[in-house]
Amino acid sequence: MTSPILVTGGTGTLGSLVVPLLRDAGRPVRVLTRSAREPRGGVEFVTGDLVEDEGVDRAVEGVETVVHLAGGRKGDDEAARHLVRAAKAAGVRHLVYISVIGAGSVPLGYFRQKFAAERIVEESGVPWTTLRAAQFHGFVLAALQGMAKLPVMPAPRAMRWQPVDARDVAERLVELTLGAPAGMVRDLAGPTVYDMADLERDYLRASGKRRPLLPVAMPGKVGRAYKDGANLAVDGIDFGHRTWEDFLAEEFGARPARHA
Ligand SMILES: NC(=O)c1ccc[n+]([C@@H]2O[C@H](COP(=O)([O-])OP(=O)(O)OC[C@H]3O[C@@H](n4cnc5c(N)ncnc54)[C@H](OP(=O)(O)O)[C@@H]3O)[C@@H](O)[C@H]2O)c1
Repeated sequence: MTSPILVTGGTGTLGSLVVPLLRDAGRPVRVLTRSAREPRGGVEFVTGDLVEDEGVDRAVEGVETVVHLAGGRKGDDEAARHLVRAAKAAGVRHLVYISVIGAGSVPLGYFRQKFAAERIVEESGVPWTTLRAAQFHGFVLAALQGMAKLPVMPAPRAMRWQPVDARDVAERLVELTLGAPAGMVRDLAGPTVYDMADLERDYLRASGKRRPLLPVAMPGKVGRAYKDGANLAVDGIDFGHRTWEDFLAEEFGARPARHA
């Protein structure tokens, strides 16, 4: 019998797109999650917590391929350490990891932890593949919705983003998962680089909201890193084909006028 592919984070935004694609490819799937769930549609669930190192050995038992998508604001390095230890002991033959463009160059805790997790995967001794992706459209939208709660939307100057559609990332990850371990592969970003203020205007137009934008300078090391484009892929890059404009049209039923 084919061994299941373990997907950590299989219940999250990205994972819930990856799991059905693996099922469509005819592969049994096991998902590690912190909350107990009943099996369904060829997917079994193992309860555990990667940061707390609970249930991880049970999750990797009999598994040859692990797709590590679980992530949070904190503890991605600890989670990777615990997963790698268990995967090594279980004889896992391919560990696929999702990281973020800017890991290692944006001086923020999240990016540092993703970078540390990359190193842990690389040095694990388990054959590996790591894909760095840009921020997902849905993540950008949630950030903009949060900012639009204020009467004035702060528009950080010299901040650019190149958001990518999570469906494009899921498709690429499945291709990588079903292939041989490939090490660090080309980054995946969306087809267009946007100024933050343009993303904000697009969102306001699409959602029918009105907010004045207030240009603000991002101070310190973080501001400099964004100004230098540390969160953008420079070369060695693949592009998702679904655009930010397509995404907004799906979410709100209208394309932003700038791109209509
Ligand atoms: N969002 C982006 O823009 C973006 C961009 C580039 C890379 N990434 C990376 O892509 C991955 C997935 O992101 P996402 O936006 O899909 O995340 P998400 O929707 O927030 O989902 C997080 C997932 O991680 C699992 N998880 C969190 N803490 C866990 C723990 N301690 N133990 C076990 N599972 C845990 C959650 O499972 P349960 O709640 O079921 O336990 C959930 O399935 C992350 O590694 C993230 O860093 C995201």
